[in-house]
Amino acid sequence: MRHLMNPLDFTVEELDKLFDLADDIKANPAKYAHACEGKKLATCFYEPSTRTRLSFEAAMLNLGGQVLGFSDATSSSASKGESVSDTIRVISGYADICAMRHPKEGAPMVAAERSGIPVINAGDGGHQHPTQTLTDLLTIRALKGRLGSFTIGLCGDLKFGRTVHSLINALIRYPNIHFIFISPPELKVPDYITDLLCEKGITYEEVIRLEDSIAQLDLLYMTRVQRERFFNEEDYVRLKDFYILNKEKMSLAKDDMLVLHPLPRVNEISVEVDDDPRAVYFKQAQYGVYVRMALILTLLATVDESGNGIQ
Ligand code: NCD
Repeated sequence: MRHLMNPLDFTVEELDKLFDLADDIKANPAKYAHACEGKKLATCFYEPSTRTRLSFEAAMLNLGGQVLGFSDATSSSASKGESVSDTIRVISGYADICAMRHPKEGAPMVAAERSGIPVINAGDGGHQHPTQTLTDLLTIRALKGRLGSFTIGLCGDLKFGRTVHSLINALIRYPNIHFIFISPPELKVPDYITDLLCEKGITYEEVIRLEDSIAQLDLLYMTRVQRERFFNEEDYVRLKDFYILNKEKMSLAKDDMLVLHPLPRVNEISVEVDDDPRAVYFKQAQYGVYVRMALILTLLATVDESGNGIQ
């Protein structure tokens, strides 16, 4: 039985297979409409979410399965002090697979250790968000035609943004990628990530102004300033509108540069950019359903191979 905690839990070859499956699901949805009949997905969300939770639920419903869960820690027994280890042991008897989001870094890993069913990390604090990364990779592969040989700019909150950390982590396994990190000094990408890039001999630049580097980019990954991870409101207010991607900045970019964003967007992309064919963030959210369908099928297959058991 396998879990998904980190995008690196799958090899590059396993990811290729997963993305091929997601492509087939997109092309032939009817073929998969009953694939998970009789199976249940539990969504245990201790932190707010729209896309991740609902795309997981849509994914399971599209596969003919059912869903149960909670979308708020206050409506679960966590509010009474129950540990994630106890919760997952119980949920293992109610569902076949679980997607868990938690504000504490590492909480889904703790749950996975005691779980009798596959656990998917649906975002743990400022740490990792592997299924967003699978969504991002599938989108890049589908719309750019390749994973590798590009310059990617990651812009915004590179310190607290877990989608950024997960994506960089996953991209370092593909060839010829040059990273440009665009952030205010206070929201720089953590040292452990730049250390890793140095160790692997991967090139990167750190810049402050988006205008200065946008012309070089094949991909621009915009992110929201993560208000909920700030220690004080004053810093958030000072930094929240540091970047606003608008038509003027887009006019400096390549004709085939793609703009991605994990969403939710706050102010960092002006709505006037939405009609630009290079703005693919809403398509990206749709790819998230196909890749989660492929992931549910893949992880449930590992249970069938090994035999399920409640611990
Ligand atoms: C992201 C997250 O939760 O980390 N959202 C998502 O899952 N699509 C990004 C964010 O909240 O800024």
